[in-house]
Amino acid sequence: MRIGVLTSGGDCPGLNAVIRSVVHRGLDVHGDQIVGVEDGFLGLIESRARPIGHDDVTGLLTLGGTVLGSARVQREKIRWAVDHAEELAARIGIDALIAIGGEGTLGAAKLFSDAGLPVVGVPKTIDNDIDATDVTFGFDTAVHVATEAIDRLKTTAESHQRVMVVELMGRHTGWITLTAGMAGGAHGILIPEKPFDIERVARMIEERFDRGKKFAIIAVAEGAVPATGTMRFDHGEVDQFGHRTFGGIGTRLAHELEDLLGKEARPVILGHVQRGGTPTARDRVLATRFGWHAVEAVHKGAFGHFTALRGSQIELVPVAEAVTRLKTVPADRWAESEAVL
Ligand code: F6P
Repeated sequence: MRIGVLTSGGDCPGLNAVIRSVVHRGLDVHGDQIVGVEDGFLGLIESRARPIGHDDVTGLLTLGGTVLGSARVQREKIRWAVDHAEELAARIGIDALIAIGGEGTLGAAKLFSDAGLPVVGVPKTIDNDIDATDVTFGFDTAVHVATEAIDRLKTTAESHQRVMVVELMGRHTGWITLTAGMAGGAHGILIPEKPFDIERVARMIEERFDRGKKFAIIAVAEGAVPATGTMRFDHGEVDQFGHRTFGGIGTRLAHELEDLLGKEARPVILGHVQRGGTPTARDRVLATRFGWHAVEAVHKGAFGHFTALRGSQIELVPVAEAVTRLKTVPADRWAESEAVL
């Protein structure tokens, strides 16, 4: 078979490991040809694709990012591509496609499959918010990076008797912040699933300093929101470019805590550092297993399905199960940490 493979949406560590695994399994076991589609669905639309073989995937297991490139493509363009699915597949000469991506990509997999381009999905995101899989690759790496950042911030915070507010990724869910916050021993953890009260955060810090502790670390998810009326600045204020006028939540929180407490507070926005670099061993293995199972799924004809980790097994799950809702942190999980405020 001629199987296309593409990576779509925000990148994450482990994408290259999936590509490598698809090439190994497809070429060595099934005698497939693998075609790498460039820049996600954009490459499919613009017929930008190239055959990839063993030489192209040498060294990819440990390499972050994606050698195929990735892009976030507007919905209208995807709709157009779905309407022209068979023609686009014929242009680059593929019989089936493995689409590695987040929620949007998995949703598109079903539409393409129904329209005559058979697609198997592979879930990815550092945010770990895709439902129906226990975990996504990239998450473990992001948590490691974030945990190391918290560890490192502690020494400088203590030296200067400061409050450090570290903003971590997670627009809609707090998986990275909760996990790295717990692993790094952050004193306050703020996640989108639980609107926070800044007075409570300030009180916790004051009590800490009263007990003789000389610093505090607050881990805040970029999507965390203050409970209504508890912060001075309106969270929703944006400038003409759509950027928040007072910076992200981490910056605003640090400034307001400094005001409230009369102590020095510094924001640290970790940002895309969490998505860069080599994947952890756990992510390499999960990505490799997903690639293996995706090729098998193509040969079984399990189109409109995606690879999901359930317990220790990889299962093929209908994409509808991944796109109906985001996997948020349940209350009984965050209740396990007193630091979640
Ligand atoms: O969904 C993954 C993610 O890294 C989020 O955590 C973050 O909010 C977003 O992507 C950033 O997107 P971009 O790379 O487009 O700035």
